[in-house]
Amino acid sequence: MATKTKTISPSSSTFSLYISLLALLSTASAFSPVDHYLINCGSRAAETSDPDHRVFAGDDSRFLTSTRTVQLETTESPPPFSSPLYHTARAFEHPAHYAFPVRDRGTHHLVRLHFYPLQNNYNNLFAAEFHVVANGFLLLRNYRIPETYNFPVVKEFVIPAASDELQITFIPSEKSNFGFVNAIEVISAPNDLIADVAQFIDFEKNERILGLLRNGFETVHRLNVGGFKVTPFNDSLWRTWLTDDDYLVSNDGSQKTHFGGRISYQMGGASREVGPDNVYSTARLIKSSDNSIPNVNMTWSFQVDKGYRYMIRMHFCDIASVASNMLYFNVYLNGNLAYGNLDLSDVTNSLLASPFYADFVVDEESSGSLVVSVGPSNMSLPQAVDAIVNGIEIWKLNNSMGSFDGNVCAGYVWRNWRRGHTGVLVPLVAVIFLLVSLSVFFQRRRSSGVVAWSRLPVDVSEANLKCGNQMSSMKG
Ligand SMILES: *[C@@H]1O[C@H](CO)[C@@H](O)[C@H](O)[C@H]1NC(C)=O
Ligand SMILES: *[C@@H]1O[C@H](CO)[C@@H](O)[C@H](O)[C@H]1NC(C)=O
Ligand SMILES: *[C@@H]1O[C@H](CO)[C@@H](O)[C@H](O)[C@H]1NC(C)=O
Ligand SMILES: *[C@@H]1O[C@H](CO)[C@@H](O)[C@H](O)[C@H]1NC(C)=O
Repeated sequence: MATKTKTISPSSSTFSLYISLLALLSTASAFSPVDHYLINCGSRAAETSDPDHRVFAGDDSRFLTSTRTVQLETTESPPPFSSPLYHTARAFEHPAHYAFPVRDRGTHHLVRLHFYPLQNNYNNLFAAEFHVVANGFLLLRNYRIPETYNFPVVKEFVIPAASDELQITFIPSEKSNFGFVNAIEVISAPNDLIADVAQFIDFEKNERILGLLRNGFETVHRLNVGGFKVTPFNDSLWRTWLTDDDYLVSNDGSQKTHFGGRISYQMGGASREVGPDNVYSTARLIKSSDNSIPNVNMTWSFQVDKGYRYMIRMHFCDIASVASNMLYFNVYLNGNLAYGNLDLSDVTNSLLASPFYADFVVDEESSGSLVVSVGPSNMSLPQAVDAIVNGIEIWKLNNSMGSFDGNVCAGYVWRNWRRGHTGVLVPLVAVIFLLVSLSVFFQRRRSSGVVAWSRLPVDVSEANLKCGNQMSSMKG
């Protein structure tokens, strides 16, 4: 796995060109994103290396287009192994824009925002409250770091990037009047990360739906089932996969398993960018014992926000069966059968240890939790493995207002900020308007003796208009 720097010197000598060619060849199999921006906000250093050996650039550079911001540096002596990303931050009292050129247009881009309320000479960052908008999507609204958090928070989104620029705007909310951010990552996703199609599952439907690529996604859970935590160092898209133990509801009969062999990635199946080796080489499974198929399910439960659609990606890799065509099981979402008699051999050309994933979409209207289970099916065999799961990812989809955080759209929070900050302008404009109308009035009177009366333009109240033409209002 290699983190490549994006700069190509135009004056490369033949020799260095040769070296870069060699480097390209040696890392040919590793994913290297077309767009790859890592910004250490508030840092004056040209480059900072994080504990995963990723190089973040300082941000007094090309991307930040707002000038009225504050550079923050930590005033504590940071713990020895803490990430330098959390030693600096940038705060803003006005909307701050970061604009990243997009070369890989039309693909989704990963956007990661890092927040850590470091101690500083400017303000208590726990008091910061702000909105974040990216490419017209409202990512965070009235966002605050919970008082009990003394660790970094990373918010990850995957959003479409159709134009030649990806813009991220931080807008202070009225309550605090300032916001901050420690680091930003913008990475073009490989084409196979998000598919346009998934299986929609609810009480009465199990149907194929299309059009997922129009959506943005927020990562809410990403688990390496049955395994260890995977850090960005071991993931070609620099993701973090947590262990599943805290989400497992019932583990009666289930066991963890680990595979020391090679994971067989195949064309058309899951790629290493969809899930890394460390995810597919561990799993949790249900196994027959005493020649009988256990009558149990493995079940995980996830807290999620109500009123959104979620995509659930289940990762499977048969690292436990002794031969192919011996593993059959059912997958349930919220108690509904999502995939009956899943036969991993059938979807992997009968190759063991070959990864496969399935995408499901559910609507979360009422309960605030998503329940994922797997269990033996009526084709499961005694003396065999009867269910397996290697990884689970859960993404929130934006709602119809393009928001991940409430029923308002990006243009609304933006207009609200401007309304709150026209306090000086409004009286001034009113005075000028009055003077102009008076002079027109007296001129007309002088010229014709007739008083012309016209209604003053009335400002349409936008208080209940929570959406509207978001793109045009973004330009302000
Ligand atoms: C990366 O994965 C390897 C193999 O599983 C493991 O030994 C190593 O500790 C991991 N490194 C980090 C930084 O997580
Ligand atoms: C497994 O879960 C499904 C769906 O909730 C349920 O219908 C089935 O009865 C469960 N099986 C067991 C053994 O609990
Ligand atoms: C097995 O389950 C499938 C659905 O999961 C069902 O359509 C089929 O009738 C079942 N077969 C038997 C023999 O119970
Ligand atoms: C998410 O936003 C896109 C673009 O605005 C829209 O087409 C899509 O329908 C939205 N998703 C949902 C689930 O409403």
